[in-house]
Amino acid sequence: MDETKILLSEKEIPQRWYNIQPDLPAPLAPPINPKTHKPIGPEDLAPIFPMELIKQEVSLEPWIEIPNEVMDMYRVWRPTPLRRARRLEKALGTPARIYYKDESVSPPGSHKPNTAVAQAYYNKVEGVKRLTTETGAGQWGSALSFATCLCGLECTIYMVRISYDQKPYRKLLMQSWNGKAIASPSDQTNSGRAILADYPDSPGSLGMAISEAVEDAATHDDAKYSLGSVLNHVLLHQTIVGLEVQEQLKLAGEKVDIICGCVGGGSNYAGLIFPFVKEKLAGRDLTLIATEPTACPTLTRGEFRYDFGDTAQLTPLLKMFTLGHRFVPPPIHAGGLRYHGAAPLICLLAAQKVIEPRAYHQNTVFDAALTFARSEGMLCAPETSHAIRAAIDEALKCKETGEEKCILIGYSGHGFFDLAAYEKYFGKELVDYEYPQEKIDEALQSVPVIEDAPE
Ligand SMILES: Cc1ncc(COP(=O)(O)O)c(C=O)c1O
Repeated sequence: MDETKILLSEKEIPQRWYNIQPDLPAPLAPPINPKTHKPIGPEDLAPIFPMELIKQEVSLEPWIEIPNEVMDMYRVWRPTPLRRARRLEKALGTPARIYYKDESVSPPGSHKPNTAVAQAYYNKVEGVKRLTTETGAGQWGSALSFATCLCGLECTIYMVRISYDQKPYRKLLMQSWNGKAIASPSDQTNSGRAILADYPDSPGSLGMAISEAVEDAATHDDAKYSLGSVLNHVLLHQTIVGLEVQEQLKLAGEKVDIICGCVGGGSNYAGLIFPFVKEKLAGRDLTLIATEPTACPTLTRGEFRYDFGDTAQLTPLLKMFTLGHRFVPPPIHAGGLRYHGAAPLICLLAAQKVIEPRAYHQNTVFDAALTFARSEGMLCAPETSHAIRAAIDEALKCKETGEEKCILIGYSGHGFFDLAAYEKYFGKELVDYEYPQEKIDEALQSVPVIEDAPE
């Protein structure tokens, strides 16, 4: 088949999410209570999450049915196209075949609504009236605003201060879907006020915004908290992406050799690769490249150990690669990749060497984004450009070796709200940050030492 867009019909949207937990190559270390160091139970999570999502978090069922109401919402933009990047192949002069799974076609412009609509639905069913969350660059805040709007819930979004000031259009998008964005750190919560007392001009971080959103939900009976990445149930919902790709590759008569995605908290990457990890663990030769910024090198330079998910230490301890929960990443433009940790499921696969992490500087990923835009026509989000950089590098290797590999890119979002970043790139104002080791070591000193952690 030599089509450029490989499309499924609505009837072919997968009806179930794939749960990787029973198929993992090693046991997943459980989240633990920071005081007792014992695994947390459902009762610890009940104040902030609905029960159905808590069940999904620990489920060992390999497949989980997608409720009809969620399928109805998915049909607004799913199935998403798998596109063959023929013009990019030509521009690079590579014998490789390059495909990209285009999650930018959702109303908010990224993969994030795949979990947002599921989370809003389960909360609605359990009588919740308002969801609280954090957002970095604004992609997740706008996705949750979209989902809560469809489900008739209210939404409060703690938006990292620097993005709040730099990205007015994402804020307006949230408002269009009735979401209320608040600059974080804010004076609305104890954790926000404590940070402001010490650092009145704090640019904020995802870790700080999570503290505020969790506190807001935990202190209001009608509100719950929603996280856009990192947790098992979020990654589960994203598997709709990889499951569609498997069908689309079958239609194209392809077998993929290399998959490239970007990792912030790990959700789009997980959604894309998890169905393929099963094949890799069964012995199939498959390279899974996980990209991240050199300025926030969680998987490439972090330590694999228990740490808090947020700055104010309100979350349970998660076993993950971490740069330390006090780490405040430099203000790079891929705001969605500025997180000190990553999903425990992704970290386990990195520790087991199932996936290959790679870090890139800002300028080289923007170079790749422009090569892509000038051949394929699509202008990607700065986060997505990391995945494109890796794919182009792999395609250029194929050019040298003559190998005709099949390369798949996770095209997690468009860059239409990130034009200020492109303006900086065109003006040669983008700074390449290499985070100094002493700063990483300093932030890691705040990470608790758990000697009696469960294996
Ligand atoms: C377009 C896009 N891609 C990737 C990410 C990274 O998040 P995750 O690693 O959870 O997919 C984000 C986060 O905001 C994003 O907006």
